[in-house]
Amino acid sequence: MGRHPLAPTRRAVLAGGGALAATSLFGCNRNSAGSGRLAEIAVGPEAVMLEAAEQPLMLGGNGAPTPAWLYGNSPFPVLRAKVGQQVEATLINGLREHTSIHWHGVRVANGMDGVPYVTQMPVLPGERFSYRFTPPDAGTFFFHPHCNTIEQLGRGLAGVLIVEDVSGRAFDADIVLVLKDWRVAENGSFLPFLTLEGAGRSGSYGTLRTVNGRTAPTIDLPAGANVRLRLVNADSTRVSDIGIDGAAATVIAVDGNPVLPFALEGWRLGPAMRVELSLRTPAAGGKLALVDYFAPQPVTLASFALQGTARRRGDLPAIALPPATLPEPDLARAQMRQLRLSATAAATDYADLAPIVLPDGRRIELLDSLCSTSRTLWAVDGKTWPQSGHEHLPPPLLEFARGETAHIEFVNTTPHIHPMHLHGHSFKVLSASKLQRPVHWADTVLVMPEERVQIAFVADNPGNWMLHCHIIEHQDTGMMAWFRVA
Ligand code: C2O
Ligand code: CU
Repeated sequence: MGRHPLAPTRRAVLAGGGALAATSLFGCNRNSAGSGRLAEIAVGPEAVMLEAAEQPLMLGGNGAPTPAWLYGNSPFPVLRAKVGQQVEATLINGLREHTSIHWHGVRVANGMDGVPYVTQMPVLPGERFSYRFTPPDAGTFFFHPHCNTIEQLGRGLAGVLIVEDVSGRAFDADIVLVLKDWRVAENGSFLPFLTLEGAGRSGSYGTLRTVNGRTAPTIDLPAGANVRLRLVNADSTRVSDIGIDGAAATVIAVDGNPVLPFALEGWRLGPAMRVELSLRTPAAGGKLALVDYFAPQPVTLASFALQGTARRRGDLPAIALPPATLPEPDLARAQMRQLRLSATAAATDYADLAPIVLPDGRRIELLDSLCSTSRTLWAVDGKTWPQSGHEHLPPPLLEFARGETAHIEFVNTTPHIHPMHLHGHSFKVLSASKLQRPVHWADTVLVMPEERVQIAFVADNPGNWMLHCHIIEHQDTGMMAWFRVA
């Protein structure tokens, strides 16, 4: 195995004093032997320490390191937890500004959702915050900050949470591939994360594309083996069209939610979206690559080096994951609400804004500048966050009684794609007027230009939940709202 960066925990132990038992922190680091793989941490009974701090990171062929912000000292740590088992993760803020962790796609209780001023107070520099939750669903999830996301995520602050199901034995390897572009100059310094040209269109693209923090890496995989690839798009902007060159791949889960397996024929993977593939790798010496077909010229994102003698014979058996146990929406009794995605309407003024109440009872009257912006280019339902008095929270866009079915139609009136995400729930993607997709559960859905997409879910998780576009420049310039389940 050699030395592998168990960084997120090691740094935390050194920084955090002796009180933390090191045992589980150093315990298990699976799947990390092959090159190009991410550091993995098995979640045990003790807290995983995630220290957010600046770390020099060599990217591509750049001449100097980039001042990345990471959880630990290597990009995108992967936490492996088990369904139904508690996760405790302590965020230590080693940054110069406040932060928090949002567990994207995990149906946590509201107080653990990590949205400053909506579900918790921001975690100030030098402070810590312990997130504790028992993931109700297996799957591939993603975690990231939720204020000044444009810079914090842009600098690399993100990780992956795998909640394992029981199907592990069907696969000879199970690896995570995180896609992220970096906006860096050749001297390693960051370019502006938000540009007006980008924010007003499809976003400011990165200049350097990476998988697991490396440009076009070669990643080891066993030859002739059943492999599960968990793809995470952690980019703030780019939509990729995922393909596998060299093997027939099957889609087995979307945003962590198992699907009835279907053949991969390109899958549009927008920011924050995940897709899981199962495939049989070729024999040693064969070619296998991860490609993006979105651009006219396909781009090879990563190649795989096939190792050893073939592990399996015959064809890849159909490996269906245990189905998700999500409550079925009751469309007959739901009233559909249309949400128009548009360029900004005139700023709305709300009289007498009621303060939001955090799950711990604190009342929030004002936001700070890291969580609000005065630039409003986009709107959901004609409203922009955060309105004219931008330090105020807008009122909820939608309200649902607990247990009520939410039936929403996104209507994209713009010429740009919007990956729409909502917190605290997984929703069923029922129909779309343009992009063909099987009915599936998701937490983020692409709404193509001029497209209408209908989703539904049972609003069964009480609290105040965000709903926004996951192109971070759109989110940061108004395409953000929240809804209440009471
Ligand atoms: Cu991935 Cu509201 O976020
Ligand atoms: Cu958008």
